Amino acid sequence: MNARLMSLAVLISGQGSNLQAIIDSCDRGEISATIRCVISNEPDAYGLTRAQHANIPTHVLKHTDYSSRQLYDHALADLIDQYHADLIVLAGFMRILGAEIVEKYQYRIINLHPSLLPKYKGLNTHARVLAAGDKRHGASVHFVTADLDDGPIITQASIPIEGSDTIESLQEKVHELEHRILPRAIQWLAQNRLTVDAGQVLLDGKPITQCRTTCSP
Ligand code: GAR
Repeated sequence: MNARLMSLAVLISGQGSNLQAIIDSCDRGEISATIRCVISNEPDAYGLTRAQHANIPTHVLKHTDYSSRQLYDHALADLIDQYHADLIVLAGFMRILGAEIVEKYQYRIINLHPSLLPKYKGLNTHARVLAAGDKRHGASVHFVTADLDDGPIITQASIPIEGSDTIESLQEKVHELEHRILPRAIQWLAQNRLTVDAGQVLLDGKPITQCRTTCSP
């Protein structure tokens, strides 16, 4: 299936290993996308260095420089619009976006979350999964709505939890899943294969839940 070259704005707050996965997937021609800019709310985010190594323009937009979430979101939108991004990818961006910016880019913002949503929205997902004694854990990519870690789920992947697992081991395993599912979701969007119907994401017109872990790109 033909895919157009989709322009991305990638928002980060930290290590940027998922940003790196997108950069690598673009370089390998696995996703028909190009990263126009990387924006971080944290000046020390290592992801900024990764972007600079890949010659991608970077911006630091510190939330502490703004007196309200709305003003911050306006500045963010102005920056994103300068780059004419088709899609905004929250790849470890640890800021909540307000309703106004979410509405402005409806179905054009996707978020990566380290849990099998709708379970474990919010922070410390690995610790909470271990404390609950769950048998499986994973990662989700979803369209962003005004509610935290909510919104129609695009794709998920999961792993079994072993008795020896720790927060660190789960973090590592979930990262591996994330590095696969985030580029996959971007490619589906670039290929125009996703639609949302009554709050459910359809891939090629079929409910996405049918192929959470088995669909190939
Ligand atoms: C990822 O595990 C991502 O799911 C999580 O931050 C990490 C960023 O890793 N995001 C959230 O928790 C958002 N709710 P990275 O900086 O190495 O890509």
